[in-house]
Amino acid sequence: MDGPTVPVTAEVAPHPGHGAVPGAVDHTSDAAWDPRQYVVFAGHRGRPFADLLAQVDARDPRLVIDLGCGPGELTLGLTQRWPGARVIGVDSSPEMLRKARDLDVDGRVEWVEAAAEDWDPTGSGGPIDVLITNATLQWVPSHLRLIPSWLERLAPGGTFAMQVPSNFDAPSHRLMREVAARHPRADDLRPGLDRAQAVARPETYASLLLDLTPDVDVWQTTYEHVLPAQAGGPHPVLEWVRGTGLRPVLGVLDDEERDAFVADYESELERAYPRRPFGVLFPFTRTFAVARTRRQRAPGPGKTEVSAR
Ligand SMILES: C[S@@+](CC[C@H](N)C(=O)[O-])C[C@H]1O[C@@H](n2cnc3c(N)ncnc32)[C@H](O)[C@@H]1O
Repeated sequence: MDGPTVPVTAEVAPHPGHGAVPGAVDHTSDAAWDPRQYVVFAGHRGRPFADLLAQVDARDPRLVIDLGCGPGELTLGLTQRWPGARVIGVDSSPEMLRKARDLDVDGRVEWVEAAAEDWDPTGSGGPIDVLITNATLQWVPSHLRLIPSWLERLAPGGTFAMQVPSNFDAPSHRLMREVAARHPRADDLRPGLDRAQAVARPETYASLLLDLTPDVDVWQTTYEHVLPAQAGGPHPVLEWVRGTGLRPVLGVLDDEERDAFVADYESELERAYPRRPFGVLFPFTRTFAVARTRRQRAPGPGKTEVSAR
């Protein structure tokens, strides 16, 4: 796939680490998505979105969807890159959407509450020119089945672009599973951790997409995130996963159990990701896939052909 012909202007924090204040968030509810916790590392989390978008060369899309839009900052960046586009942000979390609506002071984006599994792309009112889903499909175990149906809804020449974390074998997640396995409520914790299997290998995404269209680009990147660490403050990797992967685990525990889990897990993280003068080095691998449908549909009565360009 060709590189970008339009500058990427997704509005992300100026550089990784910008604004990161580990330990600044009061953890009132760890079960629901907490936009405040999620944006603590907004700069680091925004970088893969920009890298994904850099491979989307849509010039003048009419309809752009951000599936799993989260707190909205990155979605609003899409309106800057494509000022003429109708942009829809879809997310299953009312908390995230509330934050997104607050941020969208000009009402530029249509915010829709829906789970990806139930979301009906036809309800968007037209063929989709760009469907982007960033750091979300790891929460949607059925996404390999859903992707073909989403590509069917793309306009000719439309783009599907996704990014998922591929860090489930990293110490951050392995240690989470180990601490959970020795916890008295291990059986209750297991379902929240089984999501690891939801993310497929890069070659699986490549094969799936290449069966649908020839214009496919799949790659992996490992970011060596440098996370600031305050002396005596919480471990920054703990703060990172609190905003995402640790939520389903902490959400099933009461306060006392949660404190015990976090103390055990944090001491493991201190060993795995030692504090150094610059902070903590946190390698993070992500898988990206971009697929573009052909520009013209194949002839034939009633045939939906996503791969005829
Ligand atoms: C890690 S955040 C990513 C947010 C945003 N795309 C970004 O890159 O910053 C994951 C988002 O997926 C949403 N999500 C989780 N499961 C979902 C589902 N089944 N359907 C739709 N959204 C979902 C969450 O509410 C959350 O906002």
